[in-house]
Amino acid sequence: MSLVLDENLRLGHPGIDRQHQEVLEQINKLSDKLTEGADDVEVRDVLDFLHTYADKHFFEEERLMKSCNYYGLYKQQKEHAQFKREIEGLQLMLRKKRPSIDLAHQVETSLFRYFVEHINGMDREFADYIKRNDL
Ligand SMILES: [Fe+2]
Ligand SMILES: [Fe+2]
Repeated sequence: MSLVLDENLRLGHPGIDRQHQEVLEQINKLSDKLTEGADDVEVRDVLDFLHTYADKHFFEEERLMKSCNYYGLYKQQKEHAQFKREIEGLQLMLRKKRPSIDLAHQVETSLFRYFVEHINGMDREFADYIKRNDL
């Protein structure tokens, strides 16, 4: 899978865009590892990294939101928590199942789609708020 942060997904905030790019790269990597039949340890490592990185990204985004009294903070926190639960669901699944194409498909439908929709929806709304208010 080679999904990149193209122009449509860029929000115009360099820090956030860079972090979104990294999350997408990790999702790609995870999907590739699953498709090519990498061993459990390798897949788990990528998934753990993705979990830690997503955590860091959400933490920074939420801190930025708090610092400018953003009205949509609570909605964002809920979606961020949901995304982390998706990752944790995959981590659990990997304890029972071997890496497979099925799991790769799940990564594409759950993680990737969820993240892209989140960027295009709530994160874009936040980026517009920053621009509108000159923050
Ligand atoms: Fe984000
Ligand atoms: Fe977000």
